[in-house]
Amino acid sequence: MTSMQNIVQFSKEAGPIGIFDSGYGGLTIYNEIKRLLPQYDYIYLGDNARTPYGTRSFNVVYEFTRQAVRHLFAQGCQLVILACNTASAKALRSIQQLDIPQLDPNRRVLGIIRPTVESIGELTKSRHVGVLATEGTIKSLSYPLEIRKLFPDIEVTGEACPIWVPLVETNEFASDGADFFVKRHIDNLLARDSKIDTIILGCTHYPILMDKIRKYVPEGVNVLTQGSAVAASLKDYLHRHPEMDLLCTKGGTTRFFTTEADGKFGNQASLFLQQQIEVETVTLV
Ligand code: DGL
Repeated sequence: MTSMQNIVQFSKEAGPIGIFDSGYGGLTIYNEIKRLLPQYDYIYLGDNARTPYGTRSFNVVYEFTRQAVRHLFAQGCQLVILACNTASAKALRSIQQLDIPQLDPNRRVLGIIRPTVESIGELTKSRHVGVLATEGTIKSLSYPLEIRKLFPDIEVTGEACPIWVPLVETNEFASDGADFFVKRHIDNLLARDSKIDTIILGCTHYPILMDKIRKYVPEGVNVLTQGSAVAASLKDYLHRHPEMDLLCTKGGTTRFFTTEADGKFGNQASLFLQQQIEVETVTLV
């Protein structure tokens, strides 16, 4: 298929804002976006059947994320937020540089690492920051690289927490067993740099573990979740890009899609959203 054929396959009409994650984690971002910008229409897509992404290779995360973006474009989304740090770290740049020009140069895909990083400059006094994230995000070095661009004086230490996403996806986040893994990674991080006064939860699943995280993070250390920073950044983006704002419909609705069985997603998602939702199953190709 030529690039011209690709360009004409998607509609130019306004559509919902797409929000994508490997699973449920992006719901923590969706919640804050919906709270701040309730007037827009949204489509949430969780690739629950193939989660976690954090231990997968660059090429696999890129391919899965590209499929998700294509699906959301086909649903009419002109703007897509990768509400997943692993996808933002491993796939965003390739999608922006290689895929968007082919698919539709007028559409936009935004990540969540940059908006998160922008807010830490004022938070840390010691200028020592920790990042807890998936193996993929930590290995990509996206956080230290982005932080260095904005705040070269900040020292960054990362700790991969490979079990944390499965704890959330399997609904074990409140179990006693979860304490062991939460404590272990916080201890590891602080043992490597005891001056850390701000910890970024660089995975959208992690706010679900917040009760346990707070239990093991010493008093006085900030724990930064991403939702409100991402929502504020999206609001600012739409304000600065009225042409894109016009392409986002405003009906206050949300449709939820998952690659898993719809009933399974619906039950679990209701815990995150404190409401029952309708879910549709899709296959990404
Ligand atoms: N919520 C994702 C992130 O922010 C997920 C991770 C995963 O699927 O491993 O990185």
